[in-house]
Amino acid sequence: MMDHLSKSQAAEESENSGSNSSANPTMGEMIAERFNRRDLMKGILAVSAMAATVSPLAIAAAGKAQAANTTPSFAFKEIEAGSDEKHHVAEGYDADILIRWGDKVLPDAADFDPRAQSAAQQARQFGYNNDYLGYIPLDGSRRGLLVVNHEYTNEELMFPSLPGRQDLRGVAFKDMTRDIVDIEMMAHGGTVLEVARGANGKWALVENSRFARRITGETEMEITGPAAGHDRMKTSYDPSGTKVRGMLNNCAGATTPWGTWLTCEENINGYFGGVMAADHPEAVNNRRMGLPGNWYAWAKYHDRFDVTKEPREANRFGWVVEIDPSDPNSVPKKRTALGRFKHEGAANIVNKDGRFVVYQGDDERFDYVYKFVTEAAVDRANPANNRDILDRGTLMVARYNADGTGQWLPLVFGEGPLSPENGFSSQADVVIETRRASDLLGATKMDRPEDVEANHRTNKVYVMLTNNSRRTEAQVDAANPRADNRFGHIVEMMPTDGDHASLTFNWDVLVRCGDPAIAAVGATFNPNTTRDGWFGMPDNCAVDAEGRLWVTTDGNAPSKTGRADGVWAMETEGPARGTSKLFFRCPNGAELCGPELTPDMETFFVAIQHPGEADDDDPNAKPVTFDTPSTRWPDFKDGMPPRPSVVAITRRGGGRIAV
Ligand code: FEO
Ligand code: CA
Ligand code: CA
Repeated sequence: MMDHLSKSQAAEESENSGSNSSANPTMGEMIAERFNRRDLMKGILAVSAMAATVSPLAIAAAGKAQAANTTPSFAFKEIEAGSDEKHHVAEGYDADILIRWGDKVLPDAADFDPRAQSAAQQARQFGYNNDYLGYIPLDGSRRGLLVVNHEYTNEELMFPSLPGRQDLRGVAFKDMTRDIVDIEMMAHGGTVLEVARGANGKWALVENSRFARRITGETEMEITGPAAGHDRMKTSYDPSGTKVRGMLNNCAGATTPWGTWLTCEENINGYFGGVMAADHPEAVNNRRMGLPGNWYAWAKYHDRFDVTKEPREANRFGWVVEIDPSDPNSVPKKRTALGRFKHEGAANIVNKDGRFVVYQGDDERFDYVYKFVTEAAVDRANPANNRDILDRGTLMVARYNADGTGQWLPLVFGEGPLSPENGFSSQADVVIETRRASDLLGATKMDRPEDVEANHRTNKVYVMLTNNSRRTEAQVDAANPRADNRFGHIVEMMPTDGDHASLTFNWDVLVRCGDPAIAAVGATFNPNTTRDGWFGMPDNCAVDAEGRLWVTTDGNAPSKTGRADGVWAMETEGPARGTSKLFFRCPNGAELCGPELTPDMETFFVAIQHPGEADDDDPNAKPVTFDTPSTRWPDFKDGMPPRPSVVAITRRGGGRIAV
């Protein structure tokens, strides 16, 4: 989801304001320790080498001189950073629109007409704000399933009747109608598409595919794992505590080696309204999750989103959902063993002992990095045996020590403070209140963990920490080394002995983001990085078949970094480590989500989310509406609003990306 959330500045404040009031590690004593960290020293030296008196041109020239001594592993001509109404891709590549909001997914869907939209049609058409993209091969890299998350809705851009974004929150509940709310619910969720690459090298949807599916805010799902059937999961709609309608705010995700799709519920608090009684048993739990968020008017028409009427419904959201896209009738499963929080993603790796390890970030200021290790090993010979492998295993949360070591702290009922004295009576309580359990274990409060992705070549794990402008000097620690961290950083973790199930790891800061030409920012990109090559706010990432890291961003804008969001290639090894290079950039207002390469590395799918939003930090920006978006990408037709879309990037004439 966009850094400064769609629902207005005020809503942004509540989105990631941080609900973590626990006392663990941002303590003052770590400040002294942090100056011993070698990476911090490197950072300090790098910053002082770029004193404010050195012009950006001089830095670029110095960078070019050094570049001659390194071998760039990404072979493409960098594009210019900037911002306009269009997308831009490196020379020699095509970036083609594959599917847009409103396009037909099911064969009986109507042609898209944004002025005559209905919930019934939206449920058959491509949803809004495409986020995660996963490619599951059916015929290698020529034909496959593309699974897509639809994270949230921008009703100010979707509906002609509504006022602009800056005004939206104040009037939202007055102007919202049942029709709008129901369309929004159908525009959430996910989509399964069958896609194929033609003889001309271009991708297209396979028409009338038997796999085509829309999943919405109303699709029935099963709750599995430790919380299934627990009293805290029961509602008036579902006295069994095992069935829930819909998945919400599905941000990033992953695919598994057994062909399923993991899709992650993130800012679920925004959909709930009403007033939580302070003495209700769920009051503390709900507050820690930022509930009720009151960003949407759903509670006005649907009692289950009103915490006054259904105080436990929210416990049924905030999970990782596993979906079998090969069967359009399969029931999605909320896998509660993986914990409940604001999940960004679920990137994963099969450990050397065969167990499956899922890395997860909880995207909120001062929240945590997690991993889940299955009990059983993945059965590669018989994929059906992995069907419920995610229901049993150990959830762990990360503590980063100032000396560059770290621990994974198991979240297991009955161990340490996770006991009845602290309100935990079973593993169900631990997973429902994962955040509070992690507070008690002393996990490290991070600067908004987004994607966490393992490199299958090196076993290093990259953690995208997007920003945290609320961190004060007193709260700085080694793993979150900057106060007022507006531009984010990337942490690299090295599991002990390359064992992803290990309880220990070492870690380092790969890069602190932001403009290296401004000394006060304290960015630590490799000096080879050009003025186009640096970025702020890392969010999603992908590791390609060669083990190379691609970083995509959320929150760059002319007012903040002088550039749009995009895709940056990031060197991680050798002398070029920390050098990044701009490959693709978004149209105005959009963030770049869902980077996914086909196994042959010939296609790079990306999701362009919320094109046309306003640049909120620009004091002169006008409110954007259906009639006055900041771009009409990708159609550029009068009267047609901007449309979040999936883009397929291929090399003109064929060949692997950036090789
Ligand atoms: Fe939905 Fe953390 O981005
Ligand atoms: Ca994201
Ligand atoms: Ca983000």
